[in-house]
Amino acid sequence: MVKVKSAAINPVDYKLPRFVIGPVFGLDFSGIVEEIGDNVTNFKVGDAVYGHAHGSLAEKAVSSANKIAKKTDDLTFSEAAALPVAYVTALQGLRLGKVTEGSSVLIIGASGGCGIAAIQLAKAMGAKRIIAICSGKNSQLVKETGATEVVDYTKESELQSFFATNKESIQCVYDAATGSGHGEKYTNASMSLLLKDVGEYVQLNGSAKVWTKGVVLKNLPKHQHLILTDMNTADLEEVSLLLKKINAKPLMNIMPFTEEGLKEGF
Ligand SMILES: NC(=O)c1ccc[n+]([C@@H]2O[C@H](COP(=O)([O-])OP(=O)(O)OC[C@H]3O[C@@H](n4cnc5c(N)ncnc54)[C@H](OP(=O)(O)O)[C@@H]3O)[C@@H](O)[C@H]2O)c1
Repeated sequence: MVKVKSAAINPVDYKLPRFVIGPVFGLDFSGIVEEIGDNVTNFKVGDAVYGHAHGSLAEKAVSSANKIAKKTDDLTFSEAAALPVAYVTALQGLRLGKVTEGSSVLIIGASGGCGIAAIQLAKAMGAKRIIAICSGKNSQLVKETGATEVVDYTKESELQSFFATNKESIQCVYDAATGSGHGEKYTNASMSLLLKDVGEYVQLNGSAKVWTKGVVLKNLPKHQHLILTDMNTADLEEVSLLLKKINAKPLMNIMPFTEEGLKEGF
């Protein structure tokens, strides 16, 4: 059990039905360990930790030892609480996309939580070309975070021209926009951008059909992946190391833990 210091919210907190994620909102948190289970050997009372709990928007929360990591001193409690869902999803997505030193990566939905995380982690992994698709108003933000090129999806001709002139040139398309609820659809166009035989398309969301094929039947076409975040200690540690490598911090909007603060957050 932990005393929660900071908690973060993500789209999943208001998208998933309550019977799946429980009666208390919030999955991401940072805090101090107050009690440990009999079999826990890697944490002790008093440790500063961050990770995943069902119901983190509370004064205390219960987590599993394999879904948390020790917070390092370079991160504040708020920064650490901002990492789990967004950054572990991005890390696992870029890994599926086989991003390495020198890779070209397209990040769609680049100005959101999982998008910014992917830009920063792709940069830390040594990606050379990091293209961000977002609305023009967020162009400066994604550039400051590490994007080397920006495409404004609200300008239809700019978007079409990008897809027409970048065929078979990208190692990883990381798509945080498709299926987010407002008719976003990038899958078909993205597949044509992938480097022949080796490029990978990773989507964070999709239609019910894509979820069934991707998660239940596991038979999406070759080079197409749908991610379901697997929270674990090693990846929580890795995201904080990668951020440290490039001296980056998560972007945050901090609100007080009050009724007004929660309303503003959601
Ligand atoms: N499968 C999993 O395990 C998993 C894990 C985490 C998240 N997710 C999902 O991943 C998605 C992204 O999460 P998030 O936390 O990054 O959400 P978010 O913070 O709400 O960001 C969404 C972003 O999408 C952009 N966007 C909206 N319409 C777009 C379009 N037509 N083209 C390109 N970009 C568009 C917006 O950019 P602008 O403001 O610039 O317009 C916004 O910044 C959500 O659907 C979430 O549920 C899935």
